[in-house]
This record gives sequence, C-alpha cells and structure tokens, in this order.
Amino acid sequence: MTALAVEGVSVSFGGVMALSEVSFTVPEGQVCGVIGPNGAGKTTLFDVVSGLRRPRSGRVLVAGADVTGDSPVRRARAGLRRTFQRTQVFGRLTVADNVLSALEWRGGGGGLLADLTALPARRRLEAARRERVSEVLELCGLLPLRDAYAAALPVGQRRLVELARALADRPSLLLLDEPTSGLDADQTVRLREVIAALETTVLLVEHDMGFVMDTCDHLVVLDLGKVIAEGPPSEIRTDPVVRAAYLG
Ligand SMILES: Nc1ncnc2c1ncn2[C@@H]1O[C@H](COP(=O)(O)OP(=O)(O)O)[C@@H](O)[C@H]1O
Ligand SMILES: [Mg+2]
Repeated sequence: MTALAVEGVSVSFGGVMALSEVSFTVPEGQVCGVIGPNGAGKTTLFDVVSGLRRPRSGRVLVAGADVTGDSPVRRARAGLRRTFQRTQVFGRLTVADNVLSALEWRGGGGGLLADLTALPARRRLEAARRERVSEVLELCGLLPLRDAYAAALPVGQRRLVELARALADRPSLLLLDEPTSGLDADQTVRLREVIAALETTVLLVEHDMGFVMDTCDHLVVLDLGKVIAEGPPSEIRTDPVVRAAYLG
C-alpha cells in the first residue's frame, strides 16, 4: 500500500519555481526524509502535503485518495497529522491533558448534561482515552512528567509533548517539520527511538544529517525545487550529485 504519493507537483512564487514536477511515493510504514539545501523547496513541499498550499499543478494522494483539493482539516480527519517547526502546545494544561485534548475532537468531551447522564458507554470511552494517553506518554518518555504544566518544560520536552499529541489519535501519516530543533542529545536519541517504534508512515524534513541518516528508511533529495536523488541513506550519503548540491 502506498501511504503517500506526490505526483508532478509544481509551485511557483512569481518567477521562482519553488517546486518543479516533484514526484515520489512513500510506502506504508516507511520513514521518509526530505533533505536539501536552503531554498530547495522542503517547506513548500510540506505545505502542499499538509494542505496549507495548493500546487499550481500535480496531485497529492493519501492512501490512494486524491486530497489535492482538501483542506488541512479534512486531511487531518483522513489521518494526517503534523508537528510544526515552532512548538505548539497548551502551556496551561498538564502534559497528560495536552495529549488527552488531542483525542477529544471526536466528541464526548461534553458539558454538564453529558456528565450528569454519565452513560456507561461514555465512561468506557473516557477510560479508553486515559489508557491511550498513558500509552503515548510512555512511548515518548513523558510518563514521569504527566502532571507537569507544559509551559514549565524546556523546549525539548515541549516538542516531545507535541509529538505525543500528534501520535495520540494513531495517525496514518505523520509529518514532522525539523523535529530535532531544540532537542538536546538525549532527547534526540529518544526521538529517534520513538520514530523507530512507530508503525505509522512518517515524512520528515530535517537538517541534522546524522539524525536523518540514522532514522530514515528512504531519502528524497531536493535542490532548487527538483528531486535530484532518492534512495536509501547509505546510497544518498555517497551520491556525487547530492554532494555537489550541498557543497556547490
Ligand atoms: N511565500 C513565499 N513567497 C515567495 N517565495 C517563496 C515563498 N516561500 C518560499 N519561497 C521561495 O521558494 C523557494 C523554496 O523555499 P522553501 O520551500 O522555503 O525552501 P526550504 O524549506 O527547502 O529552505 C525559495 O527560493 C524561496 O525563496
Ligand atoms: Mg524550510
């Protein structure tokens, strides 16, 4: 199964071709990294996949369905989640409530009437949610911090909270935008372990080449809006075209 297909995507800003006929596919369960020098088009590609920007031409397919015209919200409902380069968590909620709130959108958060009626089905749903929160916190190494306020955490841990929020709902496709930025060495190792343990398909943009080489199954290399190489990290590392793009 193909989790993500980008087909002939082009985006231009005035005269600049930010993306030019970009095509690649990501099979289900793969961790695919997008790399390339500054201005290569990585952020633009991410925006096209997540639905923040419409391409001038080309298509984006998620699990075989054409989502090119869909809003970010519709894509989220279809199982796509993303994290941002600048962390977005609720500072005044605890770590556990940050993750719980990522599960509330399907309804059942409810008001007074819902609390008063407290149907058994509703209680079961709440229990299942709390269990899922603990599971995700454990996966991300956040269990000891579950009752801490997110605002009180250093940036690296806030990023892990954001990741936990994105994972809570078992996304089918996870987009990570520069996930190591702000992480210290231990947190970077933890992040790599979390990603390795996921069954979710991951597309990540990252400039830390060591992290990319260790974490990704497959790399897509962009330069000046074009795919100049793709393949497993071991091949990309020694590809003369890639070296020229970075050094040139
Ligand atoms: N909103 C924009 N308006 C005009 N030009 C843009 C805009 N966003 C990106 N670009 C241009 O498109 C190209 C690709 O940018 P970007 O996707 O941000 O690259 P990367 O993330 O790989 O550094 C660059 O030449 C950049 O200057
Ligand atoms: Mg960028």
